[in-house]
Amino acid sequence: MQDKIKVLDDKIAEAHLGGGKKRIEKQHEKKKLTARERVNYLLDEGSFEEIGMLVTHRTTDFGMEKEIYFGDGVITGYGTINGRLVYLFAQDFTVFGGALSETHAEKICKVMDLAVKMGAPMIGLNDSGGARIQEGVRSLGGYADIFFRNVQASGVIPQISAIMGPCAGGAVYSPAMTDFTMMVEDTSYMFVTGPNVVKTVTNETVTSEELGGASTHSTKSGVAHITSSNDIECLEDLKRLLSYLPQSNKETPRNLPYELKDEVRMSLANIIPDNPNKPYDMHEVIKGVIDEDSFYEVHKNYAENILVGFARLGGRSIGIIANQPMFLAGCLDVNSSKKAARFTRFCDAFNIPLLVLVDVPGFLPGTDQEWNGIIVHGAKLLYALSEATVPRVTVITRKAYGGAYDVMNSKHIGADMNFAWPTAEIAVMGAKGASEIIFKKEIHDAEDHEAKLLEKEAEYADLFANPYTAAQRGFVDEVILPQDTRRKLIKAFSMLENKVSVTPNRKHGNIPL
Ligand code: COA
Repeated sequence: MQDKIKVLDDKIAEAHLGGGKKRIEKQHEKKKLTARERVNYLLDEGSFEEIGMLVTHRTTDFGMEKEIYFGDGVITGYGTINGRLVYLFAQDFTVFGGALSETHAEKICKVMDLAVKMGAPMIGLNDSGGARIQEGVRSLGGYADIFFRNVQASGVIPQISAIMGPCAGGAVYSPAMTDFTMMVEDTSYMFVTGPNVVKTVTNETVTSEELGGASTHSTKSGVAHITSSNDIECLEDLKRLLSYLPQSNKETPRNLPYELKDEVRMSLANIIPDNPNKPYDMHEVIKGVIDEDSFYEVHKNYAENILVGFARLGGRSIGIIANQPMFLAGCLDVNSSKKAARFTRFCDAFNIPLLVLVDVPGFLPGTDQEWNGIIVHGAKLLYALSEATVPRVTVITRKAYGGAYDVMNSKHIGADMNFAWPTAEIAVMGAKGASEIIFKKEIHDAEDHEAKLLEKEAEYADLFANPYTAAQRGFVDEVILPQDTRRKLIKAFSMLENKVSVTPNRKHGNIPL
């Protein structure tokens, strides 16, 4: 009996060593944790249960039968984070550079299947040289098996990818189909083709970091939703992100206990500048409305003219979408529309109510925008909000102009409660632009054009640069004082808690992609 136990102990010890001490040291030299260290840090202490520790690859080409490592380059299993069940895989760069073989993929698929059956989040810690070159098409088939499962699980369980090393070629498409992609600064990169291929094909010289590092993907491409400065921070970020989410689409996120108190926030009363063309930081409005320090911003450095993220409001988990007047005056453009549309669809899929804060002067004009398809991309946000059935509440803080008024969770597209501050201006466009068009002749005929324009501008502003015309029509449910916003929102979301929405019977809609 003792002999048999020793055989098992030896195998476990060997599996725990991954690709061996030397390669572990190399991993540490690169300021990266090993796969096992990452799993242990991420999960509650002692909660990890490994599945498939003794799996090995089946390849015999290129002398591979002599290179066998238990686990085959990926650690898979389940455990808890803050007491809640999660499934995960962590690729082990010390074994064939974490490259994906047929068996490596089978292990990942097995935990993905369990995650869907049990209705719990699936987490992937990626650190891999891509397809296992020695296995050829078997490895590619393994990727496709994972991609297929990513799609089947989409909207059913939250799927989160942390990129903690290389992620290249076909490997990038699994993270791209998960709900959130996180990247570690300086040690991770993602690209479809690496710098060498880029040089050969396009003659561009570019480093891995420039081509697909965390900074590139969090600012230029928007591929990365969250970036962190090292492995530990990334794993902490992942835990925080999960805290706002339900386990699956069958649940709502957990409410934290909260008792309604005096919810007046005087800090909100002085945020809007007297000059309507002066910017202010929408973060201040969010801060004034939500529970203290609860805003978890997603896509922080990408399309900064719109803010999206999770927060708690009276203990309830909500998603926030807000125009940011500090960037491009808060205009909607291609990237901000895509960013907000994707966030909307995530929240809707997972029963997270939406708060939309509006200060939008319209869509960004210009050939760049038109030629890049602002029509179709703007339509994404319009579509995503229109189809969302979660509780949806809007607060118009200042401008709500033109088509962008309709898009930003207007009453007309199904918002449940729409509030406006007294500073709101709900109109087709700003007073100056409007007067120049509709009073063109009068201004032209006047002796003093400038004085006439100012007079007409004031006339137009008087009539439309306020929330009252919209309130008269019921397009705004209530005009509220800024300092009362928090109380109004807590009560509105509580009132909307059991919202039931009947949607048309169809296979799926056809969102303008
Ligand atoms: N298949 C099989 N083994 C791989 C591999 C792959 N795709 N990628 C890396 N490895 C192995 C290496 O042979 C090396 O093995 P060793 O420890 O026995 O020496 C180990 O993983 C580490 O790779 P190494 O190149 O030494 O690490 P690095 O940090 O210098 O570079 C990469 C990492 C990912 C940039 C580099 O390994 C690479 O370019 N790999 C190939 C990427 C690729 O083209 N993949 C296929 C397309 S999807």
